Amino acid sequence: MTAGDGDFLKSKRQWPSIRYFLSLIDFSLPAFNLKRRTLHRAVTIEDLKRAAKKRVPRVVFDYVEGSAGNEVGISRSLLSYRNVEWKVRGFSDVSEIDTSIYILNERVEMPILFAPTGYTRFMNHVGEPAVASVAENNNLIYTLSTMGTTSPAELARAVPGSRRWFQLYVVQNRQDSLNVINQAKDNGFEALVLTIDTPVTGLRHRDTRNGLTIPPRIRPSTIIAIARKPRWWINLLTTKPLEFAAFRGWDRSLQELASTIFDPSMTWKDLEWLQSVWDGPIIVKGVQNVRDARKLSRMGVAGIVVSNHGGRQLDQGPVPLEILSDIVKEVDGKVDVYIDGAIMSGSDVYSAIALGAKAVFIGRAYLYGIMAGGQRGVEKVVEIMKKELINTMALSGAKTIEDIHELGARIRKS
Ligand code: GLV
Repeated sequence: MTAGDGDFLKSKRQWPSIRYFLSLIDFSLPAFNLKRRTLHRAVTIEDLKRAAKKRVPRVVFDYVEGSAGNEVGISRSLLSYRNVEWKVRGFSDVSEIDTSIYILNERVEMPILFAPTGYTRFMNHVGEPAVASVAENNNLIYTLSTMGTTSPAELARAVPGSRRWFQLYVVQNRQDSLNVINQAKDNGFEALVLTIDTPVTGLRHRDTRNGLTIPPRIRPSTIIAIARKPRWWINLLTTKPLEFAAFRGWDRSLQELASTIFDPSMTWKDLEWLQSVWDGPIIVKGVQNVRDARKLSRMGVAGIVVSNHGGRQLDQGPVPLEILSDIVKEVDGKVDVYIDGAIMSGSDVYSAIALGAKAVFIGRAYLYGIMAGGQRGVEKVVEIMKKELINTMALSGAKTIEDIHELGARIRKS
């Protein structure tokens, strides 16, 4: 007889108590709505990503998930967050945690902003206004893309109370750029986010192989695609057509537009020009080296986003998280430093802040949410990230975002 068996025989036994048994029962009626059930069960952004994959056609999922070239940049970025080691302190009374910060002098609930994403209504018909509503409900900032499927005026009408920034590509023809900038000005957009990592489009092989077009073309293979994801197709076909809404009425094909939106001849002079026509804050996105950051800070921009466009442009450039601290040190508090790319959890948000970022932009993470469950899916993303951020703060001994900066972190070599 083993020791364990002996313990079992020695334990004092009793008849099972029905009352105790009943007190343990925890049945709730299963939600019949599959989408709600999936969202309810999602614990991480990764769970939402799996759900998203099941709900949208492959061409859509791949557009979000994919990046450029050999997709090395995005995998290095994902890995860089895994390599962060947080500093910890005890005896810190973390019974009350405050995740809020001030961005452009106004308080936001968390150091998370919604990044601009092109074609958001392609991922789910509710599109950009749904994301901006979630931003508003959670006191966060939403950035509308130049390539949005909702125009600046439509967004402002749909979610008038949202804090909104407008992402800008300097379009080849300056008059066209001005037209877009004026739409932002006239519709209460607080800041411009100028993207500089797109002199040309990155080579996104998944999209080429999938024959991605906006709107999608109906081909013989589409019939099978419709049979597989009927709901997505019904939503696409029964809501207004997909278009680059900021360019509505320009009487140019989407192909023509796409080829003029990026200006390969852009230089520092274009930033000076932008500063002369926009008197609000300018945030420059796509900064990938210390010298550019230094020059931008001298030119008086309000902020920079250390970013490689989620690996969707230059594939094997610097990894944003790995160059963040050097850039933060260089600009020395003169401009706000943000970061984006591969942020998939509240603990990734923590890591970016511990390494010096003021706040982070999330893109793919909320697109997984919107693909998985529309606006509720985006709400779920915020809920998950907030819970994870608060948990990481409590366990490391940080009561406030300032405490995260003080505590810091290091990147492990292996
Ligand atoms: C647009 O900005 C994209 O990355 O597809």
